[in-house]
Amino acid sequence: MADPSRLILGLRFQKPLHRTGQYSPQKRKTSMATYDDLENKTIVVTGAGSGIGRSLALRFAQAKAKVAVNDISEEDAFGTVQIIKKSGGTAIAIPGDVSVSSQVHQMFQAVHKKYGPTNVLINNAGLVSPMLHFFEATEDWWRRIIDVNLTGHFLCCQAAAKAMARNGGGSIINMSSGGATQAHRSFTAYDASKGGIEAFTRALALDLGPYSIRVNALMPGSIDTSGMNSEDRMHRGENIPLVRVGESHDLTGPALFLASDESSYMTGDVLKVDGGMLAQQRSATVDIMPPAGFPKLENI
Ligand SMILES: NC(=O)c1ccc[n+]([C@@H]2O[C@H](COP(=O)([O-])OP(=O)(O)OC[C@H]3O[C@@H](n4cnc5c(N)ncnc54)[C@H](O)[C@@H]3O)[C@@H](O)[C@H]2O)c1
Repeated sequence: MADPSRLILGLRFQKPLHRTGQYSPQKRKTSMATYDDLENKTIVVTGAGSGIGRSLALRFAQAKAKVAVNDISEEDAFGTVQIIKKSGGTAIAIPGDVSVSSQVHQMFQAVHKKYGPTNVLINNAGLVSPMLHFFEATEDWWRRIIDVNLTGHFLCCQAAAKAMARNGGGSIINMSSGGATQAHRSFTAYDASKGGIEAFTRALALDLGPYSIRVNALMPGSIDTSGMNSEDRMHRGENIPLVRVGESHDLTGPALFLASDESSYMTGDVLKVDGGMLAQQRSATVDIMPPAGFPKLENI
């Protein structure tokens, strides 16, 4: 096999694995930790029909938790449940729109009836697109993104937290984004929703702390959930300190940790899972919406 290292300024650098062909996004390098306290716990994961949410649901099922799989797509929610059941895990589908309070109420009623009170709620459902420049943005676009991303978190927390409190406590994990602190171009609504999620996480941690409910957030970096082509993957990876884009399973360890008693003195916190992305200034080469693509003055 070719030597994957290279000499720059007299220093020997390891060539990023994605450049050597040795990197497989599906492979995990280390053995997985076990969190025995999560066994038989009731875990609700929203937006778990695909992407990060699906990976989280599968991993919690592997930890022997009872997993309730929500998604707005009924087919995708049942798809995740089927995968879990095939590998011997325990799961039910609770399809529904997290931004509609009557549907959220029904979802949690179904979970509590089948599995008992929610022990861990992971508010993962979110709308990532479409991107719209502020001059092209519409009120409907703004409202839908805020409704799903932010109000959805509020509604699910309300539906789960009282049962958690009566049951002696629980853990809530919200899903932020780098956009909460460092903006993306043409993502005004998304970034506002994620900034809101981080503020909501801190405020809710104060209200729920006395009931032994911890509230934290995960902040994923650039995670490939759509199957980027190898060129995009390489291009984006080069601007990340760990020189690769993230995979959905990169979030599972941090989520297990925040869910488990291992993090019992953590609340109101945001855990970054971004390969070091927010630790550096962003390079122009990773910008996906250059000003050249902005609406022309004569068109606004
Ligand atoms: N992928 C990334 O790089 C990245 C980075 C930062 C933050 N995040 C956050 O992680 C979370 C998951 O993102 P992903 O990349 O896996 O996206 P994804 O689009 O693959 O998954 C989101 C899921 O949420 C579901 N969903 C959408 N609206 C819903 C609603 N109203 N009710 C219930 N379910 C709904 C979708 O059907 C989908 O299955 C999101 O909150 C996103 O903002 C992702």
